[in-house]
Amino acid sequence: MKSLFDQTRFAGMTLKNRLFRSATYDGLADESGHMTEALFQVYENLAKGGVGTIITGLTFVSDLEQPLPRQMGISNDSFIDDFKRLTDMIHQYNVNTILQIANLGSQTSPNENSGKVMWGPSAVEDLGYKTTPQEMTTEEILLAQISFAEGAFRAKKAGFDGVQMHVAHGYLLSKFLTPYYNRRTDGYGGTIENRARMIIETYQAIREKVGPEYPILIKINSEDFMDQGMTFTECKYVCQRLVALGISGIEISGGSLSSRPKEGVVRFIKTPEQEGYFKAYAAELAKEINVPVIVVGGNRNFESLTGILQETPIEYIALSRPLICESDLMNRWKGGNQKPAKCISCNKCFYPGGTSCIFNRRNK
Ligand SMILES: Cc1cc2nc3c(=O)[nH]c(=O)nc-3n(C[C@H](O)[C@H](O)[C@H](O)COP(=O)(O)O)c2cc1C
Repeated sequence: MKSLFDQTRFAGMTLKNRLFRSATYDGLADESGHMTEALFQVYENLAKGGVGTIITGLTFVSDLEQPLPRQMGISNDSFIDDFKRLTDMIHQYNVNTILQIANLGSQTSPNENSGKVMWGPSAVEDLGYKTTPQEMTTEEILLAQISFAEGAFRAKKAGFDGVQMHVAHGYLLSKFLTPYYNRRTDGYGGTIENRARMIIETYQAIREKVGPEYPILIKINSEDFMDQGMTFTECKYVCQRLVALGISGIEISGGSLSSRPKEGVVRFIKTPEQEGYFKAYAAELAKEINVPVIVVGGNRNFESLTGILQETPIEYIALSRPLICESDLMNRWKGGNQKPAKCISCNKCFYPGGTSCIFNRRNK
């Protein structure tokens, strides 16, 4: 019987338990995307707090793109030493860490004078952000793929145990999969085989650069939960293609700011039934593929998490908001206090002074 506290092997790594910190943007890097002491502290608290694996917040891979305010970057070699200090610190606590690499596409604040570009598969206005990207040329598609590969290679040099491609939540790679946003008529649009091409080629470019053994994960939407969104059948198709090519693990999420109300990424949770809102998708996918599946989204209750592990082939559980609230949640559970996470899923953790919880605000 699986337990949250099992030590396991995953893509050559040893994980001290089955709990992941899911990627969480902190808005605490400096203006150029480098580490700050405040950010370092967030990660040290997480590493001390008992979680087995920390996936970083999304990092931008290209100096051409418009980052989120104080987002972390991995777009050139100046980031390597910064991150070496971070990975060394995390490893001291016997915790693994994976860098999430992303291109935001149009899901960012436009800044007309910055000289940066917002790319998209097609020039379709984002329903949530109200931004319209520039349709990518095939040369730009190649450029974006190269920047993912180079970002991953830097992550490897900086001591990360692996990388996670952000293919979820409406960012650039995710938008290629969404018919509403991808109106292309070339080899990157139309059928799911074509819409998946950007993701497959990006994976292959990364794999080529980091070698056959290095862990590459993806976080992908189960569904987009919008009209003309990607379906779960299509999600499974993309996952199966990636598994055949050697992907190491898949984290199942869903939705974006374009989703129908109450069907987005960070849902409110008022009743126990609303917890674990992507677990049925993750369980079904896990039955069909032979790489580990991680489930994120509304996991709050120790007993429910144990139930997921014992009743389904899902191997790992990921949390974001509960660890903003209580970075030492895993230590608490391991220590015998197995009351549910204190997080009330109010979504007030998105905060201008840097991601933080109403119960322990960084800047009031
Ligand atoms: C403040 C905040 C920042 C987030 N940043 C990221 C991110 O950088 N990358 C990502 O894939 N998901 C991000 N997410 C989504 C979470 O990883 C997770 O998928 C979502 O919050 C649902 O899980 P939860 O119920 O455990 O919070 C973020 C969520 C929050 C609340």
